[in-house]
Amino acid sequence: MAEAFAAIPCAQLPALLAAMPKAELHMHIEGSLEPEMIFALAQRNSVTLPYPSVEALRAAYAFTDLQSFLDIYYAGASVLLTEQDFYDMAWAYLQRAAADHVVRAELFFDPQTHTARGVPMQTVILGLSRACRDAQAQLGVSAALILCFLRHLSEDEALQTLQDALPWRDHFIGVGLDSSEVGHPPEKFQRVFARARDMGLHVVAHAGEEAPPEYIRQALDLLKVQRIDHGVQAVRDKGLMQRLARERMPLTVCPLSNQKLQVFPDLRDHPLKALLDAGLCATVNSDDPAYFGGYVNDNLRAMFAASNMDARHAWQLAANSIDASFAPPADKAAWRAQLDECFTEAAAPGAA
Ligand code: HPA
Ligand code: ZN
Repeated sequence: MAEAFAAIPCAQLPALLAAMPKAELHMHIEGSLEPEMIFALAQRNSVTLPYPSVEALRAAYAFTDLQSFLDIYYAGASVLLTEQDFYDMAWAYLQRAAADHVVRAELFFDPQTHTARGVPMQTVILGLSRACRDAQAQLGVSAALILCFLRHLSEDEALQTLQDALPWRDHFIGVGLDSSEVGHPPEKFQRVFARARDMGLHVVAHAGEEAPPEYIRQALDLLKVQRIDHGVQAVRDKGLMQRLARERMPLTVCPLSNQKLQVFPDLRDHPLKALLDAGLCATVNSDDPAYFGGYVNDNLRAMFAASNMDARHAWQLAANSIDASFAPPADKAAWRAQLDECFTEAAAPGAA
């Protein structure tokens, strides 16, 4: 299919990238809190922030690695207290996603960041879930939640978190694994992932963002994940690359995140094109859009500006994102048809 779009002129790419229907599969909803909303919620909830102004907070977004980001990200999330706060945060993101022609959004959330501060699980899940329902009804965006375990905490705490979320089992579709990666390998979470799989939940995990390819192998073999979040360190391991391509294992890649966290400080060195050209099912996502300089279309725009990818890569990325989503098959088929129509129109003589 992609070959048919080789002739689409590069000048049309920015418009096409923006307009193509796409799924966003790797974004942390707490990472969508813009500094303005952090300050507005702090005021609403009488929370004192360690930054005097929006500008001072934004100026602190000069990250050297994942941990330097996480420290600020958890401070930002401390303003979330009520169900309405969680709703407002998710609703703001979902409106942005709709504007980027996201047809499906799978949102990570970190319950432990909130329950540790005394916010009840119910407050978190019901606020986020109501925004997802409204997104379908009012924006035509299909949205779902994935509960992430914080890997710097223990597996027992993850098991307890899953247990605590069970009364709202119908409000999330899967579990994931995030936070500080190095020193917290997937093998630490085998029991909780087995339990989640037994419950019929989808399973994904961050692996190979900063840590070596071995973490990706563990996520596949020990956690039996259905997608790898990030996974970019796979480029260091030829055998693993071949396996990921053979198994069509999706990688949810986040270019601006990789740039800002100094994984690939120059996007011209980013391996996204290499992953696609090697036949891997890579997708483009925003990770923490308020912290890393952009939403999903900003990520696509920056990545295409920094590489020599063409319309075939654009189509492949959108098709991969839809295929790798956990949406119902009938929805996926409808979005794929929309995608093909979008590109077929762009390729027609006289388009542009
Ligand atoms: N990596 C790990 N944990 C995270 C991230 C990330 O990029 N964003 C929010 N939590
Ligand atoms: Zn992430």
